[in-house]
Amino acid sequence: MTTVAVLGAGKIGEALLSGLLHAGRSAGDLLFTERHPERAAELSERYGIRAADVPTAAKTADVLVVAVKPQDIDPVLDDLAGVVTAETLVVSLCAGLPTALFERRLPDGVPVVRVMPNTPMLVGEAMSAISPGRHAGPEHLAVVEELLSAVGKVVRVPESQQDAVTALSGSGPAYFFYLVEAMIDAGILLGLPRAVAEKLIVQSAVGAAAMLAETGEHPVTLREAVTSPAGTTIMAIRELEKHGVRAALLAAIEAARDRSRDLGRAHEDD
Ligand SMILES: NC(=O)c1ccc[n+]([C@@H]2O[C@H](COP(=O)([O-])OP(=O)(O)OC[C@H]3O[C@@H](n4cnc5c(N)ncnc54)[C@H](OP(=O)(O)O)[C@@H]3O)[C@@H](O)[C@H]2O)c1
Repeated sequence: MTTVAVLGAGKIGEALLSGLLHAGRSAGDLLFTERHPERAAELSERYGIRAADVPTAAKTADVLVVAVKPQDIDPVLDDLAGVVTAETLVVSLCAGLPTALFERRLPDGVPVVRVMPNTPMLVGEAMSAISPGRHAGPEHLAVVEELLSAVGKVVRVPESQQDAVTALSGSGPAYFFYLVEAMIDAGILLGLPRAVAEKLIVQSAVGAAAMLAETGEHPVTLREAVTSPAGTTIMAIRELEKHGVRAALLAAIEAARDRSRDLGRAHEDD
C-alpha cells in the first residue's frame, strides 16, 4: 500500500484527497501539507488526514503530489531537494511546469509524472492527461492512473502534447460555462424567467454530456438525430455557421495552446 502526500491542499489538492478517501483509501495512508495552520487544522478535522511539513511528508510518503500554484513551486522544490530519493514518485499537477524543471532541481533519478487536470475534479469528474518525465516508467504511470481515477478519467499523452491538452481540457470547462451563459442569455431574450432558462440549459448540458459519454456515438450523429428537415434546429445551426462559431472555437483553442507554450517557455531556464 502506498502512502500519498498532497503538497498544497488548496482547491485541487483537497478535491484529490476527498476523492481518494471516497475511493476507499485509508486516511492513515494520506498526508497533506498546507502553509496556514488554520487551513491545515480545518482539513484534518474534516477528513481525519494528518498534516505535515514538506520535508516530513517527503520522507514519509511514496508518492508526492505537488498541487501548489506554479509560482509557489520554488520553496517546495528547495524543501524536496534534500529529502526525496529515486524511490519517491513525484506527481506534478502544476499547470505549465515541465518535468525537466523538477528533474533539474531534484536528485538524479527521481521519477516525475506531469498531470494536466481540470476543475471538474471538484465533483469527481476530472479529465486528467498524464505524461512521464525521463525517469518515470509504465509502473509510475500506472500508479498515477490509479490515483487520478478516484476523481475522474485519465489519458496518457507525450509531454509535447501538454500545451494542446491545456488548451482543450484544462481550459475546456470554461468554454462550456461560456456557452451555457450565452444560452441562458438567449432564454432571457426570448422572455423566459432567468431561473427557468438556467434550469433548462444546465439540464440540457448534463443530458447532452451523458449521451456523449454513455452512447459512444459521434457528436455529429447525435446532432443529426435532433436536426429534422426544415425544422427548428437546422435554422439555429445555419446561424451558428453564418457567425463562424466553429471557426471561432478552432481559433480560440489554438490561441490557448499558444499561450500555454509561451508560459512554458518562461520555465525553460529556471
Ligand atoms: N484550478 C484549475 O483549474 C487547475 C487546472 C489544472 C491544473 N491546476 C493546477 O493545480 C495546482 C493547484 O491549483 P489550485 O487551484 O488548487 O490552487 P490553490 O487553491 O491556490 O491551492 C494551492 C494550495 O497550496 C498551498 N501552498 C502554497 N505553497 C505551499 C507550500 N510551500 N507548502 C504547503 N502548501 C503550500 C496554498 O496555500 P496559500 O493559500 O497560502 O497560497 C494553497 O492552499 C496549480 O499548480 C494549478 O496550476 C489547476
